[in-house]
Amino acid sequence: MPHRPYAIDEMISAKSIAARIEDLARDIQADFANTDKLVVVGLLRGSFVFIADLVRELDLPVEVDFLEASSYGDAMESSREVRIFKDLRGQIEGRDVLVVEDIIDTGHTLSHVSDYLQTKHPARLRSIALLDKPARREVDFKADWTGFEIPDEFVVGYGIDFAQRNRNLPFIGKVRFTDDAA
Ligand code: IMP
Ligand code: MG
Repeated sequence: MPHRPYAIDEMISAKSIAARIEDLARDIQADFANTDKLVVVGLLRGSFVFIADLVRELDLPVEVDFLEASSYGDAMESSREVRIFKDLRGQIEGRDVLVVEDIIDTGHTLSHVSDYLQTKHPARLRSIALLDKPARREVDFKADWTGFEIPDEFVVGYGIDFAQRNRNLPFIGKVRFTDDAA
């Protein structure tokens, strides 16, 4: 794919993200208040910044694990077929589990991953996504918590990439192509 030049316009500031995560953590903590251990499962790679900030706001006994599922590849189009590339290291049978995703777009990834994790018989399974693009939904899936609803725009930053770039931006920004074809 030839590289098209693009600019990134800030959509959600680092400060707003931090404030929202404090609220989310409070809700999660209340929901899992009586847990003996919460297994927080991050979906690689997009959730790595979010999960790092989220677990540091949780005053609960927490274990962190990761799972990698296929999604966009290096393009901007979502694939409907979801595969598990990297499985959990630990056991979740009988445990409380929180799945952490960067964005819910069509809904295929989180819906498939949730079904997959259910086959491992966790005690309670909840899900959270930092961003939600409801306009793009193809399967009926609702996360238990979402950070921000956003319009149908391609976004980067705070762990989220465009062809593996821009994950290190501290804010969420919208990709705007700056060549003639834009
Ligand atoms: P879904 O299966 O269509 O819900 O896709 C979810 C996955 O697609 C997310 O985990 C992201 O990796 C990726 N994705 C969706 N929207 C965007 C975006 O705007 N920027 C970058 N990645 C995205
Ligand atoms: Mg992803």
